[in-house]
Amino acid sequence: MVKLTTFKEQIIGFTILFLCLLLSSCEAVSDTKVLYFAHSLPTSHPVHKGILEMQRILNEESAGKLQIKVFPDGQLGSEREVLELLQIGSIAITKVSASALSNFAPEYQVTVVPYLFRDEAHLWKNLEGEVGEQLLSSGSEYLLRGLCFYDAGARSFYTKEKAINSPEDLTGLKLRVQNDQMSVAMANTLGASATPMAFSELYTALQQNVVDGAENNIPSFVTSNHFEVCKYYTFDEHTMIPDVVIIGTKFWDKLSDQEKEWLRAASKESVVKQKQFWKETIAEQMEMLKENNVKFFYPDKGPFQEKSKPVMENLMKDPKMKAIIDKINSN
Ligand code: GCU
Repeated sequence: MVKLTTFKEQIIGFTILFLCLLLSSCEAVSDTKVLYFAHSLPTSHPVHKGILEMQRILNEESAGKLQIKVFPDGQLGSEREVLELLQIGSIAITKVSASALSNFAPEYQVTVVPYLFRDEAHLWKNLEGEVGEQLLSSGSEYLLRGLCFYDAGARSFYTKEKAINSPEDLTGLKLRVQNDQMSVAMANTLGASATPMAFSELYTALQQNVVDGAENNIPSFVTSNHFEVCKYYTFDEHTMIPDVVIIGTKFWDKLSDQEKEWLRAASKESVVKQKQFWKETIAEQMEMLKENNVKFFYPDKGPFQEKSKPVMENLMKDPKMKAIIDKINSN
């Protein structure tokens, strides 16, 4: 186990070194600037398709002068590792879950509060309004500047052995959550035993019974093939954690005003298509899941909402977080 990790780290290290060398040579020999964009999702995922849209618009609007090269599938490391690479200036851009980002820029913790966003309209009203702007710019202090939010739907529980119809059904279950305090608190408060780990390790962990289940949106449940192992999916929709496109300030600060504008516009414009890809993908994937014997459950969300309340109460002890949560609630 230890050996494996070390080997993986070495490979990542060598790859990054190689890419850095490549990157600096690219910049030295031509007018074209190529920014490296690393993320952890597979190419069949609607978020990846949104990123390709951003790549296309940027190329078009800058007439090829500013480009991005995309490295999907966790090729350059986990979300945490890539965020660290952004901070030291080895990679320019990433897309991570807002919960991964909350380990670096604490304001993003509010996006992990269970049942904070009332519905999709409430989520986007906040993300595309004052609150969203505040979150995106909060990262700059930690060298991680936000460009835009992508749709990542709602997260729900899925399990191997039994259906979840109420929080009581979660008791004693080992559930994989994302590696941040809020996600751990969410699962534990609901009565499960939270097991944080990187997304890329989850398929094997499910297969080998290291965990009994996990939680995620439908596209990630499908494109990771977790549906092959987990046949029970419960639409409790405990969180609506968006994905976030981030550029390291080490790269951002070196761009000209014109380049910044191209990048800002391309990222914002790609959101429209990304949301559309999301909806189309879910419709198709639900059919495919039914054909693959995945059973869906639609429990009363009330008891989940009630039981998870301490997560928000606890976070609101911090006046800075309370101010953001109050703003979201008043919208
Ligand atoms: C979602 C999200 C990813 C994240 C994953 C996870 O799929 O889009 O960015 O890595 O959840 O649960 O780790």
